[in-house]
Amino acid sequence: MVSPRTSDTRGRKVSRWGAMVGLAILGCSGSPSKPTQPPVVVAKKPTAAPQAEGKRHAVATEHEDASRVALEVLRKGGDAVDAAVAGALALGVATPTACGIGGGGFAVVYRAKKQEVYVLDFRETAPAAVDVAALDARPLPPEKRGHTVGVPGEIAGLAKLVAKFGKRSFREDVLPAAELAEQGFTLSAHVQKGAGFFEKPLRALAPTIAAQLFGTDAPLPVGTKIIRADLGKTLRLIAEQGPKAFYDGSLTDPMVNAAKAVGGTLTRADFAGYVPKERKPLTLTMGGRTLYTMPPPSAGGLMLAQALVARDTLGAMKVDSAIYLHTLAELMRGSLDDRARFIGDPEATPVDVAALMSPSRMKARLALIAPDKTHPPVELRVDEHGTSHLSIVDAEGNAVALTTTVNGPFGSKIVAGETGILLNDQLDDFGKTADGIEKKPNIPRPGARPTSSMAPSIVVEDGKVVAVAGGSGGMRIATSVTVVLLSRLVFGAAPGDAVGWPRIHTQGPKLLLERSFGADMIADLGKRGETVEQADAMNAVQLVVVEPHPGGTWLGAVSDPRKGGVALAD
Ligand code: DON
Repeated sequence: MVSPRTSDTRGRKVSRWGAMVGLAILGCSGSPSKPTQPPVVVAKKPTAAPQAEGKRHAVATEHEDASRVALEVLRKGGDAVDAAVAGALALGVATPTACGIGGGGFAVVYRAKKQEVYVLDFRETAPAAVDVAALDARPLPPEKRGHTVGVPGEIAGLAKLVAKFGKRSFREDVLPAAELAEQGFTLSAHVQKGAGFFEKPLRALAPTIAAQLFGTDAPLPVGTKIIRADLGKTLRLIAEQGPKAFYDGSLTDPMVNAAKAVGGTLTRADFAGYVPKERKPLTLTMGGRTLYTMPPPSAGGLMLAQALVARDTLGAMKVDSAIYLHTLAELMRGSLDDRARFIGDPEATPVDVAALMSPSRMKARLALIAPDKTHPPVELRVDEHGTSHLSIVDAEGNAVALTTTVNGPFGSKIVAGETGILLNDQLDDFGKTADGIEKKPNIPRPGARPTSSMAPSIVVEDGKVVAVAGGSGGMRIATSVTVVLLSRLVFGAAPGDAVGWPRIHTQGPKLLLERSFGADMIADLGKRGETVEQADAMNAVQLVVVEPHPGGTWLGAVSDPRKGGVALAD
């Protein structure tokens, strides 16, 4: 999983970040790196229109039905939190590829009146009897995949958010998703493609989901209304009985038994003991602006914050230059190195995140970045495809960035009896105990939460939200949210540009570039020691921006075209 290489065959790799960690701890830092490009001209006003503009409410999610549900909740007077909860549950119905009540997630919430931030971790936990040896033996055969199922935190987390901030009842926020499941969601191109790709395993392992998603002998066309009656019934039960139905009620045994049938060690006691955790936001002050993002067990927020600490150096480069992309890629490599060394369940492995992103440490790191060499990468396991994010702002200026996931596409592909609940395989995010550098922070332990890349983020200026963002796509979440928020906050990109501009991703030895980069860029990056590979569209970011407007506020929402989501505003 982690490769402690120190040089590549071309001998162009520079020393490991580890040396820099030592330098930073000793308080030694190199001279600040000099900008090599003239400063970019920052656009003062949006030049590329967002997909939706409004004055009161704005919503960006990865599915049209979820965006519609969320906007309806806002129009009926619901809080941004109500809209996020209803929207997340609707996403769980309409994008079983990505998320659902069998999974978990993170939410960053901003309360405008009190100017407070609230962060909730409702990620899955390992069972008390977690079988470490079984997880070390990954990849697991289908008949043992129950070991990767964590206690789902989605329902507990969403219920807690509503109880704390909602203007509506949990019941009212759950019912729109129940109706969507009963009346049918719209099959999106993204879900159709994902389902098609996994048709064979779905038919074998999750036949009830397969029966809903596929026609008898032909793929269902995009736009088909897909009914998930079993899940609709389950959501109604949760609406009526609350989270108890899920954690200590009639839904619990079907989930426990389904995981057990394929090797899992989850028990009813694991469900009864699940608690979402309030976390202190990872916070970065940038002049008058403050970033609030996800702390451990996510490592996604750290990558974003570290890049923003380096904003002066990055901002002095041209956003479309090879030196910018190379410097950014090197910063990403450094963050991944930190992730592998330091990030895990914060209860089991506490870490001083502020120290990891301190200006002096980042200055030292920047000084180690050479224009013509790359650092050897840590190699974390590859994952992609799943997860969903929504960004919401309401008329009172409250905001929610919420990322939710069942981990892999269709999670563990275990459906809990007749409940329609698709269970996660989130414990696959743990490292293996035998795997070198990842040994300490991110190993399976009873009750632990695995390290994540998810990076729900809110940026505030003078007490008012200016940007809400987050994304999906496994390890690409952190890199994409970083690229998009740098574009917006440092280069002043219009919201449509910030999301639309081509992205980079690095993880392992390669630098992936979206195909819209040209041959010149690839050649230039090659000279900088980057091993470039072109990749299809990376993953999806949902962005809402807020700007002052004469007599009020201007809201712009962009759902990433890469996954065909929908942004709505009014
Ligand atoms: O928490 C995480 O970072 C991952 N479990 C997210 C998974 C994802 O985006 C889809 N990939 N398999």
